[in-house]
Amino acid sequence: MRIYRMESYQEVSRRAANIIAAQITLKPDTVLGLATGSTPVGTYRQLIELNKQGDLDFSCVKTVNLDEYCGVPADHEQSYRYFMNHNLFNHINIDPANTNVPDGMAKDLQSECERYDKLISDFNGIDLQVLGIGHNGHIGFNEPDDCFEKTTHVVELKQSTIDANSRFFASVDNVPKRALTMGIQTIMAARKILLIASGADKRKILERALFGPITPQVPASVLQMHNDLTVVCCVD
Ligand code: PGA
Repeated sequence: MRIYRMESYQEVSRRAANIIAAQITLKPDTVLGLATGSTPVGTYRQLIELNKQGDLDFSCVKTVNLDEYCGVPADHEQSYRYFMNHNLFNHINIDPANTNVPDGMAKDLQSECERYDKLISDFNGIDLQVLGIGHNGHIGFNEPDDCFEKTTHVVELKQSTIDANSRFFASVDNVPKRALTMGIQTIMAARKILLIASGADKRKILERALFGPITPQVPASVLQMHNDLTVVCCVD
């Protein structure tokens, strides 16, 4: 595990973007696993800058996002597809056909989970997976549980996650209660993982995840078992 402790959110964003840029420079057809949430927004802004300056080419990159709400259409401004389009994809030279987010509107959610896992395996897995961490230790929408869910699955969101995400919705009642998420096995199969965290409110959970017992009650703790984990954080 490599941990970079940075001085500010801006520094976290620049370091994380530089790590992603290095990956794409070395392997232009990188399969990039991406995350939503407020933490990676600055990283995506930096990637857009690098792309605009002509220093980073996304033309051969493929992306797979971690998760999506169930029942929220792609053009709804709280969908994760909308988030990715507006915070990254619309501003870089990526082929939209190469960007993938689970379809939370699928009629048959189980088949959609199977389709998503097959897509990732047809890509020969993920080269670099970007992760944030929730206050309850979730990664993607893998919530604290009695076991690690392996593959893409439907998840009932915990009240703490619904409350945390209510800041983006008109009211807490509008926050979807279910989501699709990549499973722990799929995330752990990524060849490299980049975990980013920012804010003193993330300090405790980050410590538990990186140095506490490995338990599905703190899903991010499983990352201790990954052999190429980079953490970029500012949590002081
Ligand atoms: P945040 O979310 O970046 O908005 O704090 C992180 C997460 O829930 O994974």
